[in-house]
Amino acid sequence: MNILAVESSCDETAVAIVRDGREVLTDCIASQVDLHRLYGGVVPEIASRKHIEAIYALADQALTEAGLTRSQLDAVAVTYAPGLIGAVLVGVNFAKAAAYALGKPLIPVHHIRGHIAANYLAYPELEPPFLCLVVSGGHTMIVNVKDYTEMEILGTSLDDAAGECFDKVARVLGMPYPGGAALDRMAASGDETHYSLPRSKPGENPYNMSFSGLKTAALNLIHHAEQIGEELNIPDLCASFSAAVSDTLVPRVVMALEETGCRKIAVAGGVAANSRIRRDILAAAQRLGAQVYMPPLTLCGDNGAMIGAQAYYEYLAGNTADMHLNAYATKSILGEAL
Ligand code: KG4
Ligand code: ZN
Repeated sequence: MNILAVESSCDETAVAIVRDGREVLTDCIASQVDLHRLYGGVVPEIASRKHIEAIYALADQALTEAGLTRSQLDAVAVTYAPGLIGAVLVGVNFAKAAAYALGKPLIPVHHIRGHIAANYLAYPELEPPFLCLVVSGGHTMIVNVKDYTEMEILGTSLDDAAGECFDKVARVLGMPYPGGAALDRMAASGDETHYSLPRSKPGENPYNMSFSGLKTAALNLIHHAEQIGEELNIPDLCASFSAAVSDTLVPRVVMALEETGCRKIAVAGGVAANSRIRRDILAAAQRLGAQVYMPPLTLCGDNGAMIGAQAYYEYLAGNTADMHLNAYATKSILGEAL
């Protein structure tokens, strides 16, 4: 089954064609990052307009690269939630028009389910159940993936997402948007024990976490140094910050593996590209004898292929939509009725 998959929830317009949920025929991306960098973050209206400009040509390019004609497409999938609403609407409207014109099923895909499904592309043998640490620009959660379309959220950030914090701290340090990857690179040569930063304490649900205290502590440290004219060691600060984020995430993942008895751990989302988090997850998994799944960096960030992968399983579960499909800025991963 060839699925044309559309992703436009933030600042990448992406169209992929994925066969049977596992085989990427093509994965085309038009990134707007350079444009938003001028403003230090995503400007929603510009994102929507750029999606409109790019999406049709990108779909054509995807067909050409895959060597398929329109009639060889079996369904159209699209990220319908969550994301910047104007941006998501562009993809949803395009996908509805395409499905209507082709007379093929329309498959709505939750963006975070897509991130998780990136693992199916990287690891053909991976099947649920498994646990997944989802860390993206907007979401941080530990998910029990019971089946392809059946999930349970074990814990989530109660405030900022890990990616937001990386980007905010990087921005204050003068790194260009989105600064997570630059901060990660800077951390490589740093001493993580130099600066003492807080780790969020377990609350009522020990799987839940908080990143706003860490973010504020890092920003205060930077501003205080500025005020008293103290020169910060930037690599050390980046390493200390990355360690604090990882120390907030990874022990909760370990607890989830231990308590569920599950022996498969996957990571997903843009922040899953972080070298410190990857290293710590790998070490923890080895300690516990768990199998670890970490998609390549290209599949961690937003892309269309991950939407096409999840779409296949949504289709098999009967989760298609009609022409009334709408877009949503926020929606739970749990998959309540549309
Ligand atoms: O999943 P994603 O592409 O978009 C959302 O769905 O939000 O994630 C983007 C986030 C940004 O915050 C970016 O700075 C962060 O992923 N990121 C990283 C790294 N690479 C990307 N954060 C930390 N370390 C990295 N190596
Ligand atoms: Zn994403």
